[in-house]
Amino acid sequence: MSLRTIHLLGSPVLREQSSEVGTVDAEISQLVTDLFDTMWADDGIGLAANQVGVAQRVAVVDVNDEPSVVLIDPVIVERTGQVRGEEGCLSIPDIFGDVDRAQRVVVETTTLEGDRIKLEVIDLRARAIQHEIDHLNGILFLDHLSPLKRRMLMKKWKKLRKGRTGFLKEVPTAAARI
Ligand code: CO
Repeated sequence: MSLRTIHLLGSPVLREQSSEVGTVDAEISQLVTDLFDTMWADDGIGLAANQVGVAQRVAVVDVNDEPSVVLIDPVIVERTGQVRGEEGCLSIPDIFGDVDRAQRVVVETTTLEGDRIKLEVIDLRARAIQHEIDHLNGILFLDHLSPLKRRMLMKKWKKLRKGRTGFLKEVPTAAARI
């Protein structure tokens, strides 16, 4: 298991447009494994590659007891409904805001085996997938909030960050956290 370092709000890679993967090779497989490990170690339900400093269109989602999702070059091909729900982000710890998302999406993605498939997802899994695909386009959940709400949360973020430098967060292994 290898945990990657998480980039926090302020790190330029979070604002990058990630590039297409195309062919799934051993490096991408390893990246997917590490994304899952890092996400679980940090108690997240989704993590995009640029959050660990790799600007490629790869992300993972794992919500509750539902099957986990590997996203490689994902494209949302259908969206229906709209629901508001609270979101957070491993790159912006302790900051939460309500975001409107489609309630149901159909996402086309490449599997680790290299097949192009379509997945239909609803509710929290759909929300997480939309949040992660935003990451691949350099978009953060904060961008969906009203300017007033965003300013308020940025104030809180600056307060939380007081005295800290840099935009990297080492995720402790589960063993180290007990
Ligand atoms: Co996020």
